[in-house]
Amino acid sequence: MRLWRNSKNTRKATAVALTLLLAGVAAARADFQGSTHLMPFDDETINYNKKEPSGAIAKLQERINQGKVSLKYEPGFGYVRSLLDELKVPKSSQMLVFSKTSLQRERISPRNPRAIFFNDDIYIGFIPGAPLVEISVADPKLGAVFYTLEQTKKDKPRFVRTDQCLECHASAKSMGVPGHLVRSFATDETGMVDVNSGTSLVDHRTPLAERWGGWYVTGKHGNQTHRGNLVGKEAFERQEKEPNYMGNLENLDPFIQTSDYVAPHSDIVALMVLEHQTHMHNFITRLNYEATIRIAEYGAVKYLNSPTESFLKYLLFVEEAPLTAPVSGTSSFAKEFAAKGPKDKKGR
Ligand code: HEC
Repeated sequence: MRLWRNSKNTRKATAVALTLLLAGVAAARADFQGSTHLMPFDDETINYNKKEPSGAIAKLQERINQGKVSLKYEPGFGYVRSLLDELKVPKSSQMLVFSKTSLQRERISPRNPRAIFFNDDIYIGFIPGAPLVEISVADPKLGAVFYTLEQTKKDKPRFVRTDQCLECHASAKSMGVPGHLVRSFATDETGMVDVNSGTSLVDHRTPLAERWGGWYVTGKHGNQTHRGNLVGKEAFERQEKEPNYMGNLENLDPFIQTSDYVAPHSDIVALMVLEHQTHMHNFITRLNYEATIRIAEYGAVKYLNSPTESFLKYLLFVEEAPLTAPVSGTSSFAKEFAAKGPKDKKGR
């Protein structure tokens, strides 16, 4: 009798453990137990649209208005180079994306990709010839806040906050909060996305082989494959036969007029940091919203243990896609990024 009970308990325990394990695995990939519904960010508690942002662009606008800073306008580039300098966004972070994924998507093509630059809290999108610079900022309270800057010469250029961007930048793909995106799609020769080809969301857990569809990639990655630098169906078909077709590219001369751009690169290391950081920012925003709403409702943070644990895992790169060969970029991004990092007294 006793034995029987024990074995029944053991079976029960095993079943519970298995369920927890499976739930754990699901939670690990889905981060919020698969819950990706839109958070009520326009309700009173978060009040996303009405609250004034306090991030880097809000501060820069104030300095422009006070006449303390002026942005230089240059033919071809408009304000973008001056903006990068002023916001300390490294030019070496330039990455190029040719899939038509933007409010100005008709301006983007494999011949005229969008350049994206970033630092710890600012992302800047520049398309040669397009009327607007696109900016997203990780605001300390609000999460991702979006702005456009008109590319016409003015005394005091004005950043315009807009929620038009949320059509794409607030969905299940950004954890249900206004957030940042990185995707990977096959595209046709014009950069038009084949929506059925997508790994919909890219972060540091995505295997390299699934990354960078619709992006240019410069740098070395050995025999690891990826979907970057593939323009059109034929290129994708050829890559299936020759896995490293268009891999390990050092420059983009066959594709674009590099002089139209701030830098000639679409650096592989910058891309990998971007993919880690964008999801990290979204995760922070989601946790912040969840906690703020719970405090407003119950006066305390409740029921957040499991998301907090998956957040920690993400923060610590627990499920990072393994690298099977060394990776190195073509720009000075990796060196500059490492040099900026926080150091202890011994310089470590
Ligand atoms: C049609 C959908 C769509 C719209 C509308 C859109 N974006 Fe995006 N955006 C994307 C996608 C997708 C990416 C990721 C690039 C990729 O993988 O193709 C992206 C990336 C970005 C990035 C790079 C960093 C980040 O935050 O993901 C910036 C900056 C950006 N968009 C700004 C804007 C701004 C500003 C607006 C509004 C004026 C806007 N976008 C409107 C789809 C869109």
